[in-house]
Amino acid sequence: MAKKAIKKILVTGAVGQIGSELTLELRQRYGAENVVACGRKTKPTKELKESGPFEWVDVTEVEKLRDTCRKHSIDAIINMAAILSATGEKNPQLAWHVNVTGLINTLELARELELAQVLCPSSIAVFGPSTPRKNTPQETILKPTTMYGVSKVTGELLCDYYVQRHGVDARGLRYPGIISAETLPGGGTTDYAVEIYYKAIEEGRYTCFVEEGTRLPMMYMPDCIKATIDLMEADFASLEHHGDFNVGAMSFSAGELAAEIRKQIPEFTVAYEPDFRQAIADSWPESIDDSAARKEWGWQPSYDLGAMTKDMLAKLRTRHEAGTLYRSGESD
Ligand code: SER
Repeated sequence: MAKKAIKKILVTGAVGQIGSELTLELRQRYGAENVVACGRKTKPTKELKESGPFEWVDVTEVEKLRDTCRKHSIDAIINMAAILSATGEKNPQLAWHVNVTGLINTLELARELELAQVLCPSSIAVFGPSTPRKNTPQETILKPTTMYGVSKVTGELLCDYYVQRHGVDARGLRYPGIISAETLPGGGTTDYAVEIYYKAIEEGRYTCFVEEGTRLPMMYMPDCIKATIDLMEADFASLEHHGDFNVGAMSFSAGELAAEIRKQIPEFTVAYEPDFRQAIADSWPESIDDSAARKEWGWQPSYDLGAMTKDMLAKLRTRHEAGTLYRSGESD
C-alpha cells in the first residue's frame, strides 16, 4: 500500500484532556490551518478555538463527519472522542455507541474517502483480571470487565480488520493513565492521579477514591503527545502491529504518588475512601511491557514520577497564584 502524505488532520474529541493538547501541538507542526479541531458539547478554550479551524461534530453522526472531512479536504483522522471507564459503567450503551460506532464511522470514511490514516487510541482497559498484571505483555489475554474495555478491544480489532481487509492505514496505542496540568480528565478511573495534584496545591489534602496500595501504569502528557505523534508519523512498512501498541512510562501506587508530592508539600495529607472505581483499577495491570512499540517505532518515554511531579506542581502553583488553577472552556 502506497503511503500518502498527511497534510490536513481532523481531531475528534479535541476539547478533551488529550485532544486539546494534541491539537495545539499538531498545529505547531502541521500549520494551524491544517488541523481541524472537533468538539461535541464542551466549550473549547479560547486558545483552541482561535488558533485554527473548529467544528462541532459528534462522531456517531457519520454524515456530519463526512461533510466536515470534505469541507476541509481532510486526509487523516485522529479519533480522540471517547467515553472513559467510570462514565462508561454508568452508561454502557453510550460508551459502546461513542467508542465503537464513532470509530467505525471514521474507519468507513477512511475507506470511502481514501484517507491517508486513522489513529484511534486504545487503553490499558483492554486488559482484565485474568491478564498477567506485572509487565503485561503485548500479546496476552484480553477479557476486560468494563464496557470501556470491551469497546476498546473491539476498536483494536476493528483497526486491524480495516488494515487487512481494506488496506486502510489504521493505528492505535494503549494509553495508560494520562496526567497533565492543562485540561482536566473526565470520567476515568485514573483521574485521581490528576486530581491529587490540584487538591495538594489548593487545599493541602485529598480524598482518594482508590486504596493507597493501588498501582497502575501512568504517563505524563508530553510523553503521551510524543507517543501519539511518533506512532502517527512512523513508517507503515515498519509496523507489525497496528491498532494495539502497549506503551509504558511509569508505574506507581497512590501512596507513592502522595509521598512524591509530600517531598514538596510536607503537610499534604491523603485519606483513602475507595468507591466503585476500585474494582476497575484492580482489574487493570500494574505495569506494561512496551517492547513492540520500542522496536517498531522507537518509543522512548522521558518523564518518571519525580520529573512529572516537579513540573505538575510548578505549573499548578503558578496558576493558583494567578487565580486560574481551574481552566474551563471560555469562548462562545
Ligand atoms: N484513563 C482511562 C480511564 O481511567 C484509562 O484509559 O478510564
